[in-house]
Amino acid sequence: MHYCSLICLFVISALTTVFGAANLCVDTKANSCGECISLPGCAWCEYPEYANNPNAVISRCDLPENLEFEGCPKGSIMNPTSTQNATQNKEHSNVGELDVGKATQIRPQLIKSKIRPGDPLTVRLSFKQAEDYPVDLYYLLDLSNSMENDLESLRALGQTLGESMQNITRDFRLGFGSFIDKTVMPFISTVPSKIDNPCSEAAPCVKTYSFHNDLPLTPEIEAFVNKVKDVTHSSNLDNPEGGLDAMMQAIVCQDQINWRKDATHLLVYSTDAGFHYAGDGKLGGIVLPNDGYCYLDNRGHYTKANEMDYPSIGHLVKKISKHNIQPIFAVTENVIQTYSNLQKMIPKSVVGQLTSDSSNIIDLIQDAYNALKGKVILEVSAPSGVTISDQTAYCSSGKADGLECDGVKIGDVVNFTLSISTDTCLTKPINVSVSPYGYNEEVIITLSPLCNCECTQDEAPNNCTGHGAYECGACVCNEGFTGLDCSCDQQDEAGIESYLVNCTDAKTGVVCSDRGECQCGSCICKQFADRKIDGKYCECDNTTCDRVYGKICNDLGKCNCGKCECKEGWTGNACECTLDESTCYDPNKDKNNDTKPCSGNGECMCGACECKTNTNGIKFRGQYCETSPGGACDIHRDCIQCWAFGTGTYNTSELCQDNCAKYNVTVLGDEGSAYQQECRFTDLSDDCVFNVYYAEVGDVIMVDVDKEKKCITSIDPTYIIIGIIAAIVGIGLAILLIWKLLTSIKDAREYKNFQKDAQNPKWQGGENPIFKKATSTFRNPMYTGGKPTANL
Ligand SMILES: *[C@@H]1O[C@H](CO)[C@@H](O)[C@H](O)[C@H]1NC(C)=O
Ligand SMILES: *[C@@H]1O[C@H](CO)[C@@H](O)[C@H](O)[C@H]1NC(C)=O
Ligand SMILES: *[C@@H]1O[C@H](CO)[C@@H](O)[C@H](O)[C@H]1NC(C)=O
Ligand SMILES: *[C@@H]1O[C@H](CO)[C@@H](O)[C@H](O)[C@H]1NC(C)=O
Ligand SMILES: *[C@@H]1O[C@H](CO)[C@@H](O)[C@H](O)[C@H]1NC(C)=O
Ligand SMILES: *[C@@H]1O[C@H](CO)[C@@H](O)[C@H](O)[C@H]1NC(C)=O
Ligand SMILES: *[C@@H]1O[C@H](CO)[C@@H](O)[C@H](O)[C@H]1NC(C)=O
Ligand SMILES: *[C@@H]1O[C@H](CO)[C@@H](O)[C@H](O)[C@H]1NC(C)=O
Ligand SMILES: *[C@@H]1O[C@H](CO)[C@@H](O)[C@H](O)[C@H]1NC(C)=O
Ligand SMILES: *[C@@H]1O[C@H](CO)[C@@H](O)[C@H](O)[C@H]1NC(C)=O
Repeated sequence: MHYCSLICLFVISALTTVFGAANLCVDTKANSCGECISLPGCAWCEYPEYANNPNAVISRCDLPENLEFEGCPKGSIMNPTSTQNATQNKEHSNVGELDVGKATQIRPQLIKSKIRPGDPLTVRLSFKQAEDYPVDLYYLLDLSNSMENDLESLRALGQTLGESMQNITRDFRLGFGSFIDKTVMPFISTVPSKIDNPCSEAAPCVKTYSFHNDLPLTPEIEAFVNKVKDVTHSSNLDNPEGGLDAMMQAIVCQDQINWRKDATHLLVYSTDAGFHYAGDGKLGGIVLPNDGYCYLDNRGHYTKANEMDYPSIGHLVKKISKHNIQPIFAVTENVIQTYSNLQKMIPKSVVGQLTSDSSNIIDLIQDAYNALKGKVILEVSAPSGVTISDQTAYCSSGKADGLECDGVKIGDVVNFTLSISTDTCLTKPINVSVSPYGYNEEVIITLSPLCNCECTQDEAPNNCTGHGAYECGACVCNEGFTGLDCSCDQQDEAGIESYLVNCTDAKTGVVCSDRGECQCGSCICKQFADRKIDGKYCECDNTTCDRVYGKICNDLGKCNCGKCECKEGWTGNACECTLDESTCYDPNKDKNNDTKPCSGNGECMCGACECKTNTNGIKFRGQYCETSPGGACDIHRDCIQCWAFGTGTYNTSELCQDNCAKYNVTVLGDEGSAYQQECRFTDLSDDCVFNVYYAEVGDVIMVDVDKEKKCITSIDPTYIIIGIIAAIVGIGLAILLIWKLLTSIKDAREYKNFQKDAQNPKWQGGENPIFKKATSTFRNPMYTGGKPTANL
């Protein structure tokens, strides 16, 4: 695997080097500037003279650095970036300062941008808390039996609550609602007497109800105080209450509750019990799911309590977000965990612990309000196809990831940045909206596609043969035409494809070998200053011929489509061979006698001798093959062999007598030879070696030959195989034996130990000393019969 991937990488990199670096811009073959800049990172050269040579095809769409390298003037490189313009950017202001009844807390408000695919747009937003921002506070109180004392506290503290909130903001409204539970079994008792008075006879109370909007939001604190005095508690059976029903109505009944659009919406939810949620209604036979609509009658009573199930938490959280509600859960210690879990699902919400009689309610609400107010969260809603990234908050406490700041005080300016990007050209303008959670404000960023070039140099140097429009340095052809100057007519049904067929090298299947442009069925190859690309499919490159010491064709020929065309007198793949044979003649010899190059013992190749072999398969030696192989021994060899054994070149006695008359060959007996020169030959006829001793005595060559040849008998391969098998079996046996020996020693040792242990007196009793009987015997103290009575 690894080798493959390495090899593949190598092949790919080699290919890209050979065929020129391919990149997305070039590969896409964009034929207009707009098409080119729709590709992330690509740029277009609009310079008309880009590539002066009319045959030169250098892609106008390329990486900007490539265009510059290829000679496109900087000013003519079209590489636009995403832009933005804040078209509405009102100052931060308090309520009523700039707009009636409205504050401006986030800026800018409108941004118009042109966004180029792959070029992210970084938007910077800043947020400032307005003073005296309107606050709507709706108090939702659980009025079940156990909350009676809390109601008392609220009666006592109502006035102070209103005033303390008015201290925070001048524009404050207060409302009040109460809830108990659905009035069906098993949530209440349906015993007739209990329906009218669910409480005890001694302390009667009102009929159970689900939710009453007792007092819509009003600026009059007095009304709140009076209303709280009016209401009385009631009771239900089970512990959890129908609080989610009440919350849902309080949230979605925007008009009845009287929520203002441009205000902070606080919903205080005060209880000492848990809540029922979706599915619990089935216990009372209510199966219709909650639909999240408002069902309050003109008295402000929830009418569908016994028809619709409790809302699900998810549904409720959605509505809370949609209507910018910020819940404050004021709950007693016993249920604080439950509501903390609920709070975690709601972006801007707080849980506070209520004392059992609600005496700390004012501090709790003020703290909660401050915590909510200091939390700034921006919500981004972007259509699909738009990527939001790099969301960063610059809070008073420092930089943080995400669009969220805590502890923002009135007057603080906090900043946020986010990057917006698209991968492809947008087809139409779209809006991305960013809004601070809990406020009725919004930043709208309108994204328009930046996929057209505004070219400056549009004086057409040609009329695109009348079949296209000149744009940004290139012809954009009309339908049915193609080619650099739109001169190719695509009448053929197959269109441009039919041209491509004629431009495609069947061997590689690549159009113009990726080094040229297909123009009406023929390739126009890319031009380079130091490199010539040609051939029908641009498959030839004049730098790919063989080289000698780095020189293409040895600098002695032309490179034509990968083959050297050598100058006169030179040959070879890289023109490395001279045809001149003068260097093959031995200068020591008279040329008139020796008419053959290489002493007749070899061939003259590239001005040097390649020597032949003699009849015994041994090469001639020397620069001119002038040296006989084997020296003096070799010269005598044939004659000695024929006299001594009748074998070799002169294997008949005629040949031997004719050629070897001057030899006097004696086969030696046991005695040694008197001659000093010694030679050792191999008789090729039987592969045996024999020694000879000779001396030249006058014209006669006196030779002694050893009586016996030394013959090497080759070993039969079956013996080798048998030997190997025997070795393997032998080693195996040895290992087995050693193993057996070792185990035997170990066994013997253990047996000895066992015998020793067996003699140990502890084991003699027949019972393991650590063994305990599974049964214990107890004696019933009341029983005197003397026999065990209970076996446990
Ligand atoms: C931004 O928009 C304003 C108003 O639409 C315009 O006057 C101004 O020229 C634009 N600025 C840029 C840089 O486009
Ligand atoms: C409202 O503020 C004033 C002065 O800052 C203070 O005296 C008063 O006690 C505050 N009222 C409440 C209810 O907190
Ligand atoms: C936000 O930007 C404003 C103006 O650029 C600057 O005065 C302020 O200090 C910034 N706030 C933070 C928290 O960085
Ligand atoms: C985008 O926002 C602008 C300004 O609010 C609005 O005029 C335009 O209709 C919105 N466009 C879309 C597609 O929603
Ligand atoms: C385009 O130019 C060529 C020569 O420059 C001319 O022959 C031809 O008529 C022109 N075509 C049109 C449609 O102008
Ligand atoms: C392709 O080449 C063939 C043979 O050379 C020729 O007949 C045909 O017209 C060419 N097609 C195109 C579209 O040029
Ligand atoms: C290859 O072609 C180029 C351009 O035509 C030329 O300058 C160069 O000398 C040629 N090289 C060889 C080895 O033919
Ligand atoms: C060349 O040939 C002549 C006679 O043909 C002879 O005398 C002479 O020795 C030869 N030289 C060599 C080097 O063989
Ligand atoms: C002599 O040698 C030749 C070839 O070298 C061979 O054909 C012939 O059979 C040999 N004769 C004898 C008698 O060995
Ligand atoms: C060969 O040499 C021996 C002595 O070494 C001699 O007796 C014999 O006559 C010689 N044979 C020939 C043919 O010259």
